[in-house]
Amino acid sequence: MKKSQNSAGNEYRSRMLGIDALVKLKNGRRVPAINLDNAATTPAFSDVAEEVRQKLMYYGSIGRGKGQKSEISTVVYTEGRSAVKKFVGADNKKYTVLYCNNTTDGMNKLASALITSPRDLVLSTRMEHHANDLPWRERCRTVYADVDGDGRLRIADMERLLQKYDRKIKYVTVAAASNVTGYVNDVRTVAGLAHRYGAKIIVDGAQIVAHRAFSMLGEKGRDEDIDFFVFSAHKMYSPYGGGAIVGLKQELDAHLPAFYGGGMVEAVTDGDVDYADAPDLYEAGSPNYPGVVGMLKAIQLLSEAGFDYIREHEQTLLRRAIDKLRNEVPSAILYGDCDNIEDRVGILTFNLKTVENEDLADRLAAYSAIAVRHAKFCAHTYVDRLLGEVVPSEADRLDAACVSHKGMVRISFGIYNTEEDVDALIAALQGILAQPDAFAAVEVTSRVAARRNKYPGDRG
Ligand code: ALA
Repeated sequence: MKKSQNSAGNEYRSRMLGIDALVKLKNGRRVPAINLDNAATTPAFSDVAEEVRQKLMYYGSIGRGKGQKSEISTVVYTEGRSAVKKFVGADNKKYTVLYCNNTTDGMNKLASALITSPRDLVLSTRMEHHANDLPWRERCRTVYADVDGDGRLRIADMERLLQKYDRKIKYVTVAAASNVTGYVNDVRTVAGLAHRYGAKIIVDGAQIVAHRAFSMLGEKGRDEDIDFFVFSAHKMYSPYGGGAIVGLKQELDAHLPAFYGGGMVEAVTDGDVDYADAPDLYEAGSPNYPGVVGMLKAIQLLSEAGFDYIREHEQTLLRRAIDKLRNEVPSAILYGDCDNIEDRVGILTFNLKTVENEDLADRLAAYSAIAVRHAKFCAHTYVDRLLGEVVPSEADRLDAACVSHKGMVRISFGIYNTEEDVDALIAALQGILAQPDAFAAVEVTSRVAARRNKYPGDRG
């Protein structure tokens, strides 16, 4: 099938639910929205919505009943675990799949199981989303590898810390791709290092699953295998609250979850409990069947689209956005390495010198129906570094003096975006810059005002 960068030729546009739905501009006109915020959440594939509808016709309780619909649903749910493993190259026996709600939920579930003492030591990085920092930070000692001047992860710093703590680090936790710069990390090399120093590796897959082929299997040998991989379905065109933790079964069998209830036991007596092994151990209660069904369909559709195509498509859009921002929007400041972009998924952060990031995001939506994200993208420590707003120090404390009030604007591409979307953004930015007075600042709500007074920028 023909695939191209313009809206006429991009077959995926017509396959997105709501692509032509109209939203209201500040002047009252109704126009289709342009979504450049796919790193936050993607629209649904129509086929995903249809699959959920179809499967709900045969919906019954999962793993709990003998009715035909219950048995059909149970098979879909259970066999789906193998499809998830296949999608991420995980060995069917060695790994298990725990369904979860999203990456944040998955990381918290994993941290609550794996961390058994506040003295446990985790190595994370300063480029992480809060979902892959705070669940560890709040439960045990956490040390952080830093980033270089371009914002790329310094893998040498990870090795330095692994050496320094001399086999005391239990887990190394790192993003497969950054939600701020889109850098794709060399997680296989990190895995090799982690294993050499006796640690296991946990990879946050939120920003990679819909953008690059990902395999948990090491290319150069088992030492580079990924031990745990977590991702969300709502970033892969299936907004039904699905997600997955793919992890070492033996390790998960040996720990206990945070949630308890039905479906996770072999037997309960008056005085004792015999718990089931993973995955059941970690899935107490009736599961989110539509979330799983949607995610499985999205996996199928993305696999059919092919990650070579997706990668090339995003690189084309990213290159166009960079070139146009540099050449046609004179006051744009771009973050990260914008010359060598092969190791970036379709994410770009920038600022305009004369318009504050939240105002800019407001105006893009209000006047052009362009959706972007602004502020610090739930990655405060990383954004502060990219802005040059932080002196790296593990002694930093949260007080007025060390909280930066700055932020950025982020655009992020999906499979259905086109060069026209990029051009619309550039035209909107040029309009804002050419006639600043014509764009009265959008009213700041009391909620936003209150938030700004405390910590300008997002709280996410
Ligand atoms: N993690 C999502 C983002 O980066 C919400 O926008």
